[in-house]
Amino acid sequence: MDYQKIINEIAQEVTPFLKDGKVADYIPALASVDPEQFAMSVTLFDGTQYNVGYADRLFSIQSISKVFTFTLGLNIYGSSLYKRIGREPSGNPFNSLVQLEYEHGKPRNPFINAGAINVTDALISHYESEEVACEEVMEFIRSIADDNSISSNEIVSKSEMKYGHRNMALANLMKSFGNLDNEVDDVVSVYFKHCSIEMNTKMLSRAMLYLANHGVDPITGIRYVSVQRAKRINTVMLTCGHYDASGDFAFRVGLPGKSGVGGGIVVVVPKLMGISVWAPGLNTQGNSLVGTKALELFSDKTGLSIF
Ligand code: DON
Repeated sequence: MDYQKIINEIAQEVTPFLKDGKVADYIPALASVDPEQFAMSVTLFDGTQYNVGYADRLFSIQSISKVFTFTLGLNIYGSSLYKRIGREPSGNPFNSLVQLEYEHGKPRNPFINAGAINVTDALISHYESEEVACEEVMEFIRSIADDNSISSNEIVSKSEMKYGHRNMALANLMKSFGNLDNEVDDVVSVYFKHCSIEMNTKMLSRAMLYLANHGVDPITGIRYVSVQRAKRINTVMLTCGHYDASGDFAFRVGLPGKSGVGGGIVVVVPKLMGISVWAPGLNTQGNSLVGTKALELFSDKTGLSIF
């Protein structure tokens, strides 16, 4: 299949829609991003990459980091991680507080903010320091993306902290129910450092290969998770990766994916490839509007989906 031709066509077809999305504006660093940008990358198991648009441009991965922290959390705690977080779709916005109260401080899944903050707390407890927890997440991402240059943007994370009242509220609520071990400020600050990691679509599509290949990086041969765990992470991506639009994303694209408010989306095509798209304009649920459209076109044009 001529993947380059297909993604070139997609880039052309989605261009008129770039103006329709709305960039995240809760912090200045994201509000100032030009919405009229698009990138798409596909990485195959032999390392061959197909790219279109601004595939070298770094952006804030935001909630895509939740896939990586969830992977690390599972590797450390195994199934006992589910004592503190669930694995069901929330049907609510990513930063919603109400369900967390009804459900006694146990977040529905690791991909809503409360769930990812909780996983971060578990990582801090395990590594016994915020700095080490941060560094381990960075090292894991550098390893799966095979790129040592990846880092977190301190201007973004400080700004997130300044405007992070809702995430602080989520963390406080979990703390009040006894479902957070460490200090609220420390946990939320580490969570924001993960969100502020910067990558491009080339790096992110490469980073998905371990999930596409039953837990083993097909290029380096490194096993990052067991076969069963890779299956489960992909499943949670499919059912919860796009918050209250997870059903719609699965309906349109038919592949496991995870979005971030920076406009990035990662997608896994099991046994074949990793994909990443970036278009900073978001839809009302906080997922990349054009990114979702591009992935739907990719799945339609290639016939690739898990169904
Ligand atoms: O914590 C937040 O609200 C943001 N830093 C990240 C949320 C996010 O990416 C949701 N994704 N669509």
